[in-house]
Amino acid sequence: MMSFTGKTVIVTGSARGIGRAIAQAFADQGAQVVISDLDQALVESVAAQIGRGAIGVKANVVDAAEVEAMMASVLEKLGRIDVVVNNAGITRDTLMIRMDEKDWDLVLDINLKGAFLVTKAAARVMMKQRSGRIVNISSVVGLGGNAGQANYAASKAGLIGLTKSAAKELCTRGITVNAVAPGFIETEMTHNLSDVARQAFLTRVLINRAGLPNDVAAAVLFLASDEASYITGQVLAVDGGLSV
Ligand code: NAI
Repeated sequence: MMSFTGKTVIVTGSARGIGRAIAQAFADQGAQVVISDLDQALVESVAAQIGRGAIGVKANVVDAAEVEAMMASVLEKLGRIDVVVNNAGITRDTLMIRMDEKDWDLVLDINLKGAFLVTKAAARVMMKQRSGRIVNISSVVGLGGNAGQANYAASKAGLIGLTKSAAKELCTRGITVNAVAPGFIETEMTHNLSDVARQAFLTRVLINRAGLPNDVAAAVLFLASDEASYITGQVLAVDGGLSV
């Protein structure tokens, strides 16, 4: 089940962490994967490690010209774009009263505007193909908010609004748009959290462990699969029950 043989998949922010695990999982199921992140040498080296024909294309998701160039380059090299995963994201955590305007703007730009720019560029290609799958990596804090993460939670809640709107705009063209809302996942992003913040999350997780990047990858592959062709505009929490 869930074969991606012959499918072309772009994962933004896939040089490490959850994005890299998603890219590896698609490649393991036969997909031709595009590793995309901020540094060309890095994306090429990750693509080489993933193998199976993976290629690396640098794109800063907030740079519309770079995003367009990435789509053009993928189309030229691989001929089509079947799946796009909007995974690139950052945190700049602090309490709202201490939050700099620039950290608000940066997080909203990368996490939300970046997904808009990538979705817009990919949708043009997918509309012509009359098929496509877009999966956005939101977060449980986009559903419930979180103290110290007003910028991040707003960006991830915004991503859910973008997901549902894009699902409504693109449904007649054979394109589905869904979101995954991970909880606490072990990556470099969460290694920076304090022990107190870490414990605050983990004590609320029903399944008694932190999540792994592969837990998220499995949900993304399902939503991008042929088996999920009747699912659009949805948010799937992958959080061990944290948001219950
Ligand atoms: P990470 O920090 O390990 O990896 C993020 C990747 O995105 C990095 O490779 C980084 O270079 C890239 N990136 C950052 N800005 C970029 C830009 N402007 N253009 C292109 N690439 C850019 O983070 P992690 O943990 O793997 O997170 C991946 C996604 O999952 C993010 O959207 C994050 O918000 C989301 N998420 C993570 C959770 C966690 O517990 N780790 C929980 C919920 C959501």
